[in-house]
Amino acid sequence: MKINITEKNLVQPGALVVFGFVENEEAKLSETAAKIDKKTGGALSKATSLGEYKGKFGQMIEILAPNGIKASRVLIVGLGKGYEISEKQAEQIGGKIINKLIYSGEESVSIAAGEHAAHVGFGVLLRQYKFDKYYTTEKNIKRPTVQTVNVMTSDIDKSKKEFSILEKIADGVIMARDLVSEPGNILYPESYAQQITELEKLGIEVEVLNEDAMEELGMESILGVGQGSSSETLMVIMKWPGSKNKNEAPVALVGKGVTFDTGGISLKPGAGMEDMKFDMGGSAAVVGAMKAIAGRKAKANVIGVVGLVENMPSGTAQRPGDVVSSMSGQTIEVINTDAEGRLVLADCLWYTQDKYKPKFMIDLATLTGAMLVALGQDYAGIFSNDDDLCNQLIKAGDAVDEPVWRMPIGDGYDKLINSDIADMKNVGGRYAGSITAAQFLQRFVNDTPWVHIDIAGTAWKQKASDVAEKGATGYGVRLLDRLIKDNYED
Ligand code: BES
Ligand code: MG
Ligand code: ZN
Repeated sequence: MKINITEKNLVQPGALVVFGFVENEEAKLSETAAKIDKKTGGALSKATSLGEYKGKFGQMIEILAPNGIKASRVLIVGLGKGYEISEKQAEQIGGKIINKLIYSGEESVSIAAGEHAAHVGFGVLLRQYKFDKYYTTEKNIKRPTVQTVNVMTSDIDKSKKEFSILEKIADGVIMARDLVSEPGNILYPESYAQQITELEKLGIEVEVLNEDAMEELGMESILGVGQGSSSETLMVIMKWPGSKNKNEAPVALVGKGVTFDTGGISLKPGAGMEDMKFDMGGSAAVVGAMKAIAGRKAKANVIGVVGLVENMPSGTAQRPGDVVSSMSGQTIEVINTDAEGRLVLADCLWYTQDKYKPKFMIDLATLTGAMLVALGQDYAGIFSNDDDLCNQLIKAGDAVDEPVWRMPIGDGYDKLINSDIADMKNVGGRYAGSITAAQFLQRFVNDTPWVHIDIAGTAWKQKASDVAEKGATGYGVRLLDRLIKDNYED
C-alpha cells in the first residue's frame, strides 16, 4: 500500500474521508466536511442527523455514491469532543479508517487530515499489515483493494518530513511482525540470522557467532538449550554507530530468540503449542528496533544482541537436572528445560556487558506464562535495577501506546533460585514466576544498569487493535525507538 502526504484536493475519485466532532452533545462537521456537504446538496448533514452517529471518537458513517462530487463514497469519522486529538489518537483514527475501507472495493482513499496527518498515515500503515503470504488460492482470503492512501494536509512540508521518519519506524514494526509470524520450519536460527544480515544494507554491522565461537567463550548455558535441535544455535550482534562520537558507550538491546519452544524434555502440552513460534518475539523487537533506528539514522550508538536457538526434545537434548556453566562462570542446575529463555539470555547479557561496556542493557523476552497471569495482554512487565531508566521507559511506552508496568525484584525473590548443587537453578517455586525469572537474569548483568521487559503477553494478540491486525504486534520496536529518540541521541 502506498501512502502519500499530499495537498488538499477534494475532487479525487475513490473514497473521501472527512471528519466530524461533538459540540454541545451534537454532531458537527469539520470545515472540509461542511464544504463537501454543500457540494453534495446536504448529503452529509442529513446522514449525520440520522441514527446512532454522534461524532464520538471513532464513530463512522458512510455515504455511498453521493451526488455533486467525484468520490464514489464519503466516510465521515468522528473525533469526539472538540476536534483536538493527540498523536496517539491520530494513529488510532488512521487505523480505524483503513480497517473500515481496506476491502471496500475502492482502490484509493483520500483523507482530509489536519495537523496530525503524518500520524494518521502511520496508523494506516500499521493497521493495513497482514501476514497473508501463505494463502495461495483467492477463495481463502479477501485481498485488500485499497492501493493508495492520500493523507491530505495544508502543512505539507512538516507532515512529509515527519512521515518519512514514521515510515522507517513502521518498517521496523513490520519486520518484527513478519519475523514473529513466520512458522518454525521457515524461521530457524540459520534462516533468521540470514534475514538479520540483510540489515547491512542500512549500515548496520552484523556479526554472527556460531556454536564453535560460543563454545570458545564458555557459553554452555545458551548452547545447552539448542543441544537437542538439528539447527545450529547462533548469537547475532548488530551494531549501529550513529553517534558523532564513535567511542561513546552504546545503548544495548538484547533479545530472546527461541525460534520454537517445545519445552524440550520438559515437554509442553500439545494444545496451543503452535503458538510457541512467537517465542522469538523479544529478538524480533530488537531486530525491528535496529532497523527503525538505522532507517531513520538515529544519532546514537546502539548494539543489538539476539540469541537464536530452537528448544527441542531429542536423544541429544538437555535433561532436567543437568548442570551447565555459563560465560560468566556461574553454574546452573537446569531443573526444567522449558525455562530456557533465561538460559539463552544469561549468556547474551553477560557477553554484551563484558564486550561492549554499554551505558545500560534492555532485554526483551517472551519469558514467562506467569506474566500473562499477572498483567494480561495490555502491559508488558518491567524489572530493573535502575529507577531512572524505568521512568524513561514508562514515559516512552505511554507516548507510543506500548505501555509497561514496573514489577518488584529483591533479595527475597533472589533466594528462591538458589540450588543445592550449583550456583543457581533455572526455576523458582510456584509463586512469582515472572519475578524469579528476572532475578535469574539479574545474576548475569553484573553492575550494568538493566531493564528486563517480559513481553509474553504483548507480543501476540488474539484480537485486533486499532493499529494491528490480530497476531504479531511488533511490540517493543516503537518503545525502544522512542526511548532512544527522547533520551539518548546527540
Ligand atoms: N516461552 C515460554 C513462556 C511463555 C508461555 C510465553 C506462554 C508466552 C506464553 C517459556 O519458555 C516457558 O516455557 N516458561 C515457563 C517457565 C516455567 C517452567 C518456570 C512457563 O512460563 O511456564
Ligand atoms: Mg520454555
Ligand atoms: Zn520459551
